[in-house]
Amino acid sequence: MKKFHFAVASMALSVAFTGCKGGDESKKAERPAPKQLGQAPAAAAPAPALAAKPAPAPSVAIPANATKIDIEGTDMMKFNLSEIKVPAGKPVAITLKHAGKQPKNIMGHNLVILKAGVDMAAFATAAMGAQSEGYVPKSQADNVIAATKVIGGGESDTIVFDAPAAGEYDFLCSFPGHYAMMKGKFIVE
Ligand code: CU
Repeated sequence: MKKFHFAVASMALSVAFTGCKGGDESKKAERPAPKQLGQAPAAAAPAPALAAKPAPAPSVAIPANATKIDIEGTDMMKFNLSEIKVPAGKPVAITLKHAGKQPKNIMGHNLVILKAGVDMAAFATAAMGAQSEGYVPKSQADNVIAATKVIGGGESDTIVFDAPAAGEYDFLCSFPGHYAMMKGKFIVE
């Protein structure tokens, strides 16, 4: 008789249980207690002097008998006058006002009156690089009757000079690139 012997091997299963780590990863973020900041000095902003803005006094004295001319330049690169007429033999006071808001390095304007026979394009070209001189270079002084400084939005400048001999003269803004749009006739009669 054959005996079938069944040996049952029992497998020992060893199960290693890993201790379940508690989610106790304590946050060790030990933030340093915020140091007490020394009290910021009270912003002792000096009360702005309520200096009433004095009415923009013209930079020059205007003779009583002067012919007064007001002309405006705009952010649209334009003068509001294309012609200025003045009588001969009298002083002239021209006030250039910048009616726009752009600063003078972006949309600056001046007003330059050229002597008779001076080529406007040549003058404007010579003036282009003369930023430090208000775009009226000393090298061109002999070609100019009168010129304002360069102004930006909200500013103004007044010049006083004697009207030259009767005739037609050119005026322009000599800020680079402006004279094609900003020019006109200064007529003395
Ligand atoms: Cu201009």
